[in-house]
Amino acid sequence: MINLKNISKSYPVGGRDVLALDRIDLDIVKGEIFGIIGSSGAGKSTLVRLINLLEQPTAGEIRVDGRSTRGVTGAPLRAPRRDIGMVFQHFNLLNAKTVAQNIAFPLQLAGVLSRAEIEARVGELIARVGLGAHAQKYPRQLSGGQKQRVGIARALASKPQILLCDEATSALDPETTQSVLKLLAEINRELGITIVLITHEMDVVREVCDRVAVLDQGRVVEWGKVADVFLHPRHKATLRLVREAEHGEAGENARDLAHAPGPVYRLTFLGEAAHRPILGAAAREFGIDYSILAGRIGHIRLTPFAQLTVSLVGGSVFGAISRLEAAGVVAEKLSDGPVGIAARAANG
Ligand SMILES: Nc1ncnc2c1ncn2[C@@H]1O[C@H](COP(=O)(O)OP(=O)(O)OP(=O)(O)O)[C@@H](O)[C@H]1O
Ligand SMILES: [Mg+2]
Repeated sequence: MINLKNISKSYPVGGRDVLALDRIDLDIVKGEIFGIIGSSGAGKSTLVRLINLLEQPTAGEIRVDGRSTRGVTGAPLRAPRRDIGMVFQHFNLLNAKTVAQNIAFPLQLAGVLSRAEIEARVGELIARVGLGAHAQKYPRQLSGGQKQRVGIARALASKPQILLCDEATSALDPETTQSVLKLLAEINRELGITIVLITHEMDVVREVCDRVAVLDQGRVVEWGKVADVFLHPRHKATLRLVREAEHGEAGENARDLAHAPGPVYRLTFLGEAAHRPILGAAAREFGIDYSILAGRIGHIRLTPFAQLTVSLVGGSVFGAISRLEAAGVVAEKLSDGPVGIAARAANG
């Protein structure tokens, strides 16, 4: 669908080049919701301007639907651009036009459909985004969430294959964010439109994305299925974004690990495993006890998860961990507990 191959982008600033994107490889697959997450300055907006073909990369190649866009300028860019609908953080609506007129505008500009056809199409889109009662209102009469629904309907007007959302929920409160994300997921599912979501919020990714790439200082530092990246972050930039979403409360800290009574494991229960009482059963069977150092529960799209950091004492820790792993739990050893610490101290 969209393939970025070894993309770099630099901007000349005061006589030298600033590298905004550094050798990015990304493959966005037809029909998925792909998240691109990064903190401020990571290069997200730069990436948006390359994906929507407003700017050319300094190096590398972007393909849309198999067609290379390298060196393509002017009129031949119109077709691939029409394939990409844009949704903006600040909605970018025309204040002097009604909801219906805002949505009709790109269709009038394209000049392909008749007036009656445009009217019919606008009616469908308004129903699709749930604004039936607001067609004749002006943007100033709408809430933020309603404005974004207009933005989404307008982006869908020319029947794009891809919806590129640049911080589409960043100006909205949490509840409105949920409802707009739900609408995007519906559009993806029911219309088969591929969605690229650019955001700085891990919760947005967790709620709707299938896969995610983490952008940090112009590089893709980690990417994969959302459950893998979110539950087992490897890069410190990812960890920072996960912690931010947890408001820093749920994670284990060095002090807890040092004071743990026994070896410390992070246990991840995903999907069906999150519902079963397997931890207690394994503890009883192998005669161990556990203290909980940290934990978080939630869901990734519709899949529930629980992640517990526990210190295990007594009995057969090895047996209990093996039993949990056999039941589909992912166990990561974080520390050896007091034994390891004592051994390290003895070794100087
Ligand atoms: N037109 C430009 N000219 C010069 N430097 C630029 C330009 N656009 C982006 N940059 C630089 O590239 C880097 C990435 O910027 P970008 O706007 O893509 O980040 P971002 O991830 O969108 O950040 P934010 O979350 O704050 O919007 C920054 O260091 C920025 O200063
Ligand atoms: Mg930006």
